[in-house]
Amino acid sequence: MTSPPPPDRPPFRAPASPAQPGVGGRFGRGAKPPSEGSPPSKKRFGAVVHALGEVDSTQAVARALADDRAPEGTVVTAEHQRAGRGRGGRSWLDRPGEALLCSVVLRPAIDAAEVPQLALLAAVAVAEAVEALTGLAPGIKWPNDLVVEDRKLAGILAEAATDSRAVTRVILGMGINVSQREFPVDLAARATSLALLTGREVDRGALLDGLLTRLEHWYDIYLDHGFKPIHAEWCRRTVTLGRTVVAGGAQGTAVGLDHDGALLVRDAAHRTHRVVAGEVLDAPGG
Ligand code: BTN
Repeated sequence: MTSPPPPDRPPFRAPASPAQPGVGGRFGRGAKPPSEGSPPSKKRFGAVVHALGEVDSTQAVARALADDRAPEGTVVTAEHQRAGRGRGGRSWLDRPGEALLCSVVLRPAIDAAEVPQLALLAAVAVAEAVEALTGLAPGIKWPNDLVVEDRKLAGILAEAATDSRAVTRVILGMGINVSQREFPVDLAARATSLALLTGREVDRGALLDGLLTRLEHWYDIYLDHGFKPIHAEWCRRTVTLGRTVVAGGAQGTAVGLDHDGALLVRDAAHRTHRVVAGEVLDAPGG
């Protein structure tokens, strides 16, 4: 496991009283309002945190802030989403106060085709933050679901705006199940939470703090060195490789993660398929 560096700033605290819906402009993670004249934090991620009450989706709020020139690393959190978004057009449901729901504004100089790598990067960061706080070691199910005992603990959504092929901004959304003691019937067999896994309450503020620290760590590595270091760490933490899967129209054994983040699936005829998007399902009888 890669351990996080010691915190060098006061932790972010979730709002004590219900936050107002809408863009509230809270300064979190120890950052001070600029008018106080304090030196700017070295850390970009979470220097500005908009900790909100109820929103449609933190993705939508972060996108509006990004369109209004919010700096890279701006974070939006919410107690509850009325219309949380998941991958593949699915919805992401939560009950107030039970999940860590956050979106981060990124402005990487990458091509549109590379955006999924940021979601893989985020999966590594979420796994590390959870491990540091709880001792659990979530596995990564391709591409970026965090699972424990085959149940989903967290999901990640990377939404990009592009200008031709170049990315102008990415909103990286992460939802982590924290305090749920039960799930709706249709999810109960497939979902889990930190409370269920540890038997105790986990502090969402501390989790956010650890997550932003690891996210910024890997993001800086990504900008400097590309995807290769993240590839290695993702492979170390994945539960997908070696499994018999159905993905992107291919059925076979997941044998590797390609240099760009595509899943490599080898079928019964020993042909290798590159799967660039979609879900991984366990193959029948696999
Ligand atoms: C998935 O596994 O399908 C991705 C789920 C992503 C959910 C998070 S919660 C915070 C952010 N806001 C959203 O509407 N979605 C993401």
